[in-house]
Amino acid sequence: MKWLTLQDFEDEAREKLRVETYDYFAGGARDEVTLRANRADFERLKLRPRVLRGGFRESLATRLLDVDLDMPLLVAPTAFHRLAHADGECGTARAVLDAKLLMVISMASTTPLEQITAIASATDSSASRFWFQLYIQPDRGFTAELVRRAEEAGCSGLVVTVDSPVFGCHERDLRNQFTDLPAGLRCANMSSDGWANRDDSIRRIEFKADLCWADVDWLRSITRLPLIIKGVAHPEDARLAIAHGVQALIVSNHGGRQLDTMASSIELLPDIAEAVQNDVPIILDGGVRRGTDMLKSLALGASAVAIGRPVLWGLAAAGQPGVSEVLRLLREELLEALMLSGSESLQAVDEGILLHQPERRPC
Ligand SMILES: Cc1cc2nc3c(=O)[nH]c(=O)nc-3n(C[C@H](O)[C@H](O)[C@H](O)COP(=O)(O)O)c2cc1C
Repeated sequence: MKWLTLQDFEDEAREKLRVETYDYFAGGARDEVTLRANRADFERLKLRPRVLRGGFRESLATRLLDVDLDMPLLVAPTAFHRLAHADGECGTARAVLDAKLLMVISMASTTPLEQITAIASATDSSASRFWFQLYIQPDRGFTAELVRRAEEAGCSGLVVTVDSPVFGCHERDLRNQFTDLPAGLRCANMSSDGWANRDDSIRRIEFKADLCWADVDWLRSITRLPLIIKGVAHPEDARLAIAHGVQALIVSNHGGRQLDTMASSIELLPDIAEAVQNDVPIILDGGVRRGTDMLKSLALGASAVAIGRPVLWGLAAAGQPGVSEVLRLLREELLEALMLSGSESLQAVDEGILLHQPERRPC
C-alpha cells in the first residue's frame, strides 16, 4: 500500500517539490507556534468511547447550507494549486466532485474560477459544490465584480476571510526568497474582466488594513449568496457575525499562517460553539489530519471540518488521484473512529466522548 496516511502524502510531496514550494505550503507565521498547536491540541484531546451501543447505524451524509456532502468535510481555500501539480485547481475540483464534497475556491487560485466551476456535473442535484473565497479588496468596484463573477459561475456561497488585514509573516519564505510565483503561473482571478483577459493586466491581491463590520454589511448588501466568515476566533465575534447576517462561521487561524501564538482551532471551538448555540453551522479548519480529529471537532460543536495542506500534499504527490485518495482515507478513518467510539450517528456525537473538557484555565 503506497499511502496509508495523510502524512505519507506530505512525505512524498516534500520529496517531489522544490524546497521553497514545500516550505511555502507547509510553513506558518513567525515561530510557527500556532501551526504546531493545531496538531498538538488534537493529539492531546483524549477520547472516552462508549461500548455495546449497537454500532454506527447512520450515513456520514451531511447537509451544509443546501449542499449535500457525503461526509462532514470540505476542502479549505488554498492558493496556487498549480504550484503543487499541473492538475492544479481543476484536479482538486474533480476529486471533490467525485467524492461529493465541497471545494472552497481560493481567490488566489492559479486557475480562473469560471474554469473550475465549469467542471461541475449537470446531473448533481445538490446546490453547487463550490464556494468562492474572497479577501475584500480596498477597491470596492473590483471586489463587487469578483462577487458577481462568483455568482455567475454558479458558486453557492461566499467565504469572506477576515483574519488577514495584513499579511502574516512567513519567515521560511523570506529565507528562501520566495516572493513571487514562477513564470507561467498567476493569480488567475485578478484580471478585471474575467479569465479571457490578458496576462499583463493582472492585479496583485491586496489586504485591507481597515477591514471592519461595515465591509461585511456592504457585501451583504451586494449579494444574495450565503456569507460564510472565515477566521473567527473570539466568541463575541461569532455573535457579531450572526448579527451581521452571516450564514456560517469557519473557526480558523489560517493554518497558523497569520497571528502566531494564537490558540489552536480545536481549542477555540468550544467557546464559539457555546456562543453560537446552533444558530448557524460552524466549520473548523487547522490541523485536521485524522478521522479522530474530525470526530473530536464534531464532539466540540463543529458541523463539518475543512482541510488545507493535505489536499496540496495529495496533489503534489499524485495529482487528482492523490487528492481523491486523501479524501477517501479521511472518510475511512472517520467511519472507523465513529464505530470504535460507540457513536450511533453523527448527530449523537457530543462532548461526552472526550475524557476531559479542553483546559480553559491559563497555565
Ligand atoms: C499554502 C496555503 C495557502 C492558503 N491560501 C489561502 C487563501 O488563499 N485564502 C484563505 O482564506 N485561506 C488560505 N489558507 C488557509 C486555509 O484555508 C486553511 O485555513 C488552513 O490551511 C487550514 O489548516 P491546515 O492546512 O492545517 O488544514 C491557505 C493555507 C495554506 C497552507
